[in-house]
Parts: sequence; C-alpha cells; structure tokens
Amino acid sequence: MARLQRRTRNALVSLALLTALLYYLSPSSLHSSRTSTRRDPSEPESAWLQRHMNANADTSHVSTSSFNWSSVPVKYPPPGKLKKLPSGRPLALPKVQFDFQPETPEARKRREARRKQIRDLFRKNWESYRKYAWMKDALQPLSGGFKDQFSGWAATLVDALDTLWIMGMREEFDEAVGAVAGIDFGKSSSLTVNMFETNIRYLGGLLAAYDLSGRPVLLQKARELGDLLYKGFDTKHRMPVDFINFEQAQAGEGLMVEGQVVSASPGTLSMEMTRLSQLTGDPKYYDAVDRVMDVFAKGQGSTKIPGLWPIYVSMLTQDVVAGSSFGIAGCADSLYEYLPKMHALVGGLDPKYEKMSKLFMEAADKAFFYRPMLPGEDDLLMIGTASVNDYGDATLDAESEHLGCFVGGIYGLGGRLFQRSDWADDLGQKLTKGCIYAYQSMPTGMGPERWNNAPCKSRERCKWDEKAFEDEKRMRREWSTHLPKGFTTAKDPRYILRPEAIESVFVMYRVTGRQEYQEAAWDMFTAVANGTATEYANAAVLDVTKANYPLRQEDYMESFWLAETLKYFYLALSPPDLISLDEFVLNTEAHPFRRPKASRGGHQL
Ligand SMILES: *[C@@H]1O[C@H](CO)[C@@H](O)[C@H](O)[C@H]1NC(C)=O
Ligand SMILES: *[C@@H]1O[C@H](CO)[C@@H](O)[C@H](O)[C@H]1NC(C)=O
Repeated sequence: MARLQRRTRNALVSLALLTALLYYLSPSSLHSSRTSTRRDPSEPESAWLQRHMNANADTSHVSTSSFNWSSVPVKYPPPGKLKKLPSGRPLALPKVQFDFQPETPEARKRREARRKQIRDLFRKNWESYRKYAWMKDALQPLSGGFKDQFSGWAATLVDALDTLWIMGMREEFDEAVGAVAGIDFGKSSSLTVNMFETNIRYLGGLLAAYDLSGRPVLLQKARELGDLLYKGFDTKHRMPVDFINFEQAQAGEGLMVEGQVVSASPGTLSMEMTRLSQLTGDPKYYDAVDRVMDVFAKGQGSTKIPGLWPIYVSMLTQDVVAGSSFGIAGCADSLYEYLPKMHALVGGLDPKYEKMSKLFMEAADKAFFYRPMLPGEDDLLMIGTASVNDYGDATLDAESEHLGCFVGGIYGLGGRLFQRSDWADDLGQKLTKGCIYAYQSMPTGMGPERWNNAPCKSRERCKWDEKAFEDEKRMRREWSTHLPKGFTTAKDPRYILRPEAIESVFVMYRVTGRQEYQEAAWDMFTAVANGTATEYANAAVLDVTKANYPLRQEDYMESFWLAETLKYFYLALSPPDLISLDEFVLNTEAHPFRRPKASRGGHQL
C-alpha cells in the first residue's frame, strides 16, 4: 500500500544499524529472535507497524472459491429500493480515549517486559497451531490434535490474522495471508453454516486484517464469504436464518427462518455487513442488516422491560417483544454491544443507534446491575438477569456470567461517545471491578464461567452481614462450603479462556487512563497463563475455585483465545496509540474496524 513513509527512511537505516548492534549485545530476554526489524521507541508503534508490516506487501496468489455465491439467483429480493449507507460527512464524535501523557523510561521498561511475555505466549500457541493444526478450525491443546467445528475454513488462522499483525509478527502474517488465499468457501465440512459464528470470527477476522494491512486478497475473500452469508437473508421477510443449509442455499431455493432464536444471533450481524458495504461500495450487505435492526428499533419501547429485548425472539414473525426472560450476558450480549459500536462505525450518521444505545443503557442499569454484599464492602457491581411475571413485575436473579463481563467496557465506550461521564467513570468502572473481583477472589486468580453473590438492597450502603450471607447461601442448591466469602455459588466453575473480563479492563484503561487497570490486566494474565498452560498451548480449566495444581484441564482451545483474549492482554499493556479507540471500533470477536474520519469527510479505508 502507498502508506510507506519516506521522510524517516534514511534516519531509520542508520538507526537500524546502531540498534542491530545494540540488539546483539543486549540481554536476549527483551528481544524475539524472529522479529528482524526493531522499532525506534520514539516512533509511534502504529506507524511502525504500518511501515514494517506492509513492506513489499501482497505477492500472494489468489484462488477463488469453487462456488460463486453471488451468482446464485435471489429468491426473495429486498422489497423497494436497496437501502444505502447513511450519507453525509461523518460527525466528529467525542473523544473515547484518555489524554495520555508520556510514560517514564522505568514505567516503559516494566510494561514492555510484561508485554513481551504475552507475545511469547501467543507465539508458542501459534507455532503449535501451525505445526499440529494448520488450516484446521482449532488446535487441541492437550493432545496436539485438531478439530473442525466451524465449517472447516481454518477458523483459528482467520481469527488470529489481526493479532499477528498487531504483534508485529511479519513472517507469520505473510504466511497466513497466503493460506487465506486458498480457503474454499464453496465447500463446508458441515451441512449447515452457523451464521453468527461465521460472521463474527471469519468475516470479522478478514475485514479487520484487511483494514489493518490493506492486502487485497483479504477483501476478496471477505466478499466471497459475505456473499455466502448474504444468502442467509434470502427468506420470505428478508430476516436472517440462524443456520444456513449449504445445499439449499447453493440451489437458490430461498431459506426458511427458524421459529425462535436467541436475540444475539440476528442482532450481531450489523457491524460486519456494514463494514463490508463500506469497503466494497456494494450496499446490499448493509441493506440486509439494516432491515433487521429496524425490527429491533421498532420493538424496543414495547417489551415487558422497555428499552431491553427478551432473550428469545422470532425472526419468523418478527416478534422481538413478547418474551419475559431478559439478560445482557450469554444469548443477548452482542445485540446490545453492537448498538454504540454501530454509532461509531457509521460516524454517527444514523440516529437510531444513538437512540437505541441510550435506551438500553438506562434500562439495563435498572434491571440487571446490583451491588453484592462482600466481606470487604467493596463498592462494585455485578450483572444479573431479570424475568417478568404475569402481573408485569420484574425480578432480579443475581446470577453472573463471565460472558456478561464485556458490559463495563460498553459503558466506558458509550459513556464517552454520548458524553455521559456517569456511565464511563462510575458504572463502567464499577462493573469492570466486579469482574476483576471475581478473578482476584478465586484461589487460582481466574474468574468462573457462572456464579452468584448475595445482592444488597441499596447501591449506596452495603454492610457485610455474615448471618444474612449464610442464609442466602443455604437457599441456593448449589452452595459449596469452599467458596470465598461473598460468593454463594459457582454453578459453572470452569474458565474456558474467555476474553470478556480483560476486554473491559482494556477498554477502561484506554477510557480512564488509570494505571490500576494495567496492574489488574497483568495479574489476570499471570494467573491465566499459569493455570491454563499445556505442553503445546493453553487449555480450558475445569474448576477455578480450587487451587489443586496442576489444575484439571479440557482438551479444548477456542479460536477466541488467540483472536481476543491474548490480543486484549497485549493491547492493555501496549502504548495507547496501538489500535486507538478513536480510530477503530472492535467487533465482538475483538476484530478492529476502521472508523470514518470526520475531518476530511468520506471514508478513509
Ligand atoms: C460471480 O458471479 C457474479 C454475478 O454473476 C459475477 O459478477 C462475478 O464476476 C463472478 N465472480 C467470479 C469470480 O467469477
Ligand atoms: C502455577 O502456580 C502453581 C502455584 O504457585 C505452581 O505450583 C505451578 O507450578 C504453576 N504452573 C505453571 C505452569 O507455571
């Protein structure tokens, strides 16, 4: 790409000679033998990556998929005119990131040493994937085997592309991009294709890697895959299916929508399809998702908890209001997450995203967040669920899920975008601290998948009451005597390499600039790196509530470990200009999409 910066070239050549000399003379602990070009600390890391990662870019041979998805006739064409991307000059949205000051040399050295340990762990994982599971969906971290669970298009490879780029692993990135060129989206290892997972992992991964590197093959493959996913909207009312039947879709017969789905499934297609329209200039992908988001927008005020949608919705009848179970963690999460993120991605030009975001952020605060009764009386918040009875009364269930831990970061991001300091600086921090607390209280330093606390009536005062706590604990069937005080259950005590807690810690660091989040990130990383370590990579652990080392593990490593968890750890300990939240907005799989620039108008690709 033409973004090579010439002005610093000569200076860099002499500097490179000098640093090369110092490099060979210095302790090897600070350097990776595989990274050949080192960065001058005074150059912003984002600029260095752009230069270093793009040198002699794109020599890869592209092979097109064996089936052309865009040649399949559309059975149910969109009624009326295709909806176009919102037009006009993107708005200058309020700044998301804290105004960081330069760090001291000592602070930098300490942070860089930590960051290197994270990159080294990623490298170990990548090398094992490359050796034992190349082009497969997942590496099995205990046996060294592999698994294809996402149609067999190398899910881990595609999901980890942008992490390779961000970590400056040039050779590995080039090799992986070359491999992407050979992926065949005309064949699937499964009879059906999971719309949600394919969209967030594969399409999100390709688009972000393209946004960062500009390699044309990545956009070509994103388009091939986007055309496959577009078939998922070829239904009677243009509402998306949950699973695409591969053969039916190829035959162009149109698809039949499932009767009931979880809300996150149709609600988490907007960012990727919109970005694909922005990058290709073809509005059809945006048209497809905008019709779905209009259904959610229309129903938002008339549900049993106005502002929130029930967990189960029907795309068959376009009913997103009838249900009475509500939550913001598993099954619902990214429906909410994508609202403020869409506002950023379309440069504030579609007012419905601001409106929907503000409505849900107000309503979720009242319905789900509670202060737990804790022995140290810590002022923090946990995230529960709610159900509404026949009389319309809502009850809180104080059950938290690791999946819900992204919420703190959303109040951080949304709080800045909509200039609500109470959301960013108060709620966002308290919610993030709730998840940090769940990690730090466990004897292994890792947070469980699902747990309960005893809720306090008031958020202002919450005195520790041992007797009330014991009573509450006995009422719970799953209570266990060994849990730390303050926890009434750990219904699912696993840690399966999930990212949501570190995701919020990363966002809150960028939003508030508070050093305590980098410290929390490091504590979480050391605990996770220790407990999940295997000979080849990292594995899910079965019980984080008992420190019986070595911990029992599962032969299981999801692609999000490389795509999200390790990326967020790394970014939390990187200079804040690397993937700045004022330049990028991340999809729910931690894939950064470039935000439109307000100053010059139009989109910068
Ligand atoms: C796929 O089909 C579309 C529509 O018929 C056509 O425009 C496009 O060139 C085809 N792509 C390839 C790679 O053949
Ligand atoms: C993790 O920590 C425990 C307890 O300190 C220790 O016994 C164990 O060896 C560590 N495991 C790894 C892989 O570092």
